[in-house]
Amino acid sequence: MSTALNRALEAVLEAADTEALRRSTARLIEVYRSGAPPERQVLRDPVSAAAYAAYRMPATHAAVARVLRHALDVAPDLPTASLLDLGGGTGAAAWAVADAVDDLEHVEVVDGSADALALGRRLGQHGPPPLAGARWTHRDLAAGASLPAADLVTVSYVLGELPGELPARVVDAAAAAGRTVVVVEPGTPRGFGAVLAARERLLAAGLHLLAPCPHEAACPLAAAGDWCHLAVRLDRTALHRRLKGAALGHEDEKVSYVVATRDPAHARALPAGRVLRLPVKRKGLVQLEVCHADGTAGRELVTRRDPPRYRAARHVAQGGGGRRRERTRQTGR
Ligand SMILES: C[S@@+](CC[C@H](N)C(=O)[O-])C[C@H]1O[C@@H](n2cnc3c(N)ncnc32)[C@H](O)[C@@H]1O
Repeated sequence: MSTALNRALEAVLEAADTEALRRSTARLIEVYRSGAPPERQVLRDPVSAAAYAAYRMPATHAAVARVLRHALDVAPDLPTASLLDLGGGTGAAAWAVADAVDDLEHVEVVDGSADALALGRRLGQHGPPPLAGARWTHRDLAAGASLPAADLVTVSYVLGELPGELPARVVDAAAAAGRTVVVVEPGTPRGFGAVLAARERLLAAGLHLLAPCPHEAACPLAAAGDWCHLAVRLDRTALHRRLKGAALGHEDEKVSYVVATRDPAHARALPAGRVLRLPVKRKGLVQLEVCHADGTAGRELVTRRDPPRYRAARHVAQGGGGRRRERTRQTGR
């Protein structure tokens, strides 16, 4: 995770009542585990906002950071001077964007929780200039007013909290406001369902996919009853371990996502394939699950009888892809 964010969390939460945070964390885990849209504001007081920041922000930051890496790998010249972070809460996605790009100037975080925004603002004071100078806007996304235009719009771990038609409306508003839209959800069948619905709306709004899909056809995983996700490993902070009563020093955050952009030029370099699962490596053999540019997905076996492909396959990471032509072989195609 971002060491700067880590330091900010330590500085701001240093004096917090650990017992109160632990109780609040337990409640948040319960709410999020249910998977259903909550009936009332989840981050509804300063303690729940602090508990969220301590136990979820590092993971959502790591997830968004990974998603951004994929998108910037496909489109390194993506405009990223301004960011609108919808349902941005304490600002994890904004921190991830600020860490990932050099030219970020304007950040606006919009959220329905005044307590999350207040904490986000305090954390941001410990961050880089775009975060320290960010605008923190208290607003209910259901209110439906138009959104300010931005190069990048992030919608991170939000859609699953919204009831009824609101996820669709928020995605449409994000597509209208942003040149590039980043939607991130938990890597569960339900989170993937929200991402898939968002993907359809982003395409219908005329945007072009950047990641993770190497094509804009129907998702072959959804057709097979599977769900597209990857795991991001991150170190747990000491505070995180205390709040969750966790023994392990790390956790794997599972994430589903879609990134789409208005400018087709940026989508021109879509990879020829995307590795969907952690590659299985055996002696002399690597097994890859790959989503292909032609809209199909399937298993590929790469053996050491093809040394260049074998070497590339041994090093490809989950979520990795090959640029058209020059890096096609990385994914085993
Ligand atoms: C799980 S948190 C995600 C926060 C942040 N995006 C992240 O990735 O860590 C969901 C956020 O959505 C916000 N939210 C939920 N419903 C909302 C609504 N109707 N209007 C504005 N914000 C909302 C919550 O206040 C909360 O901050």
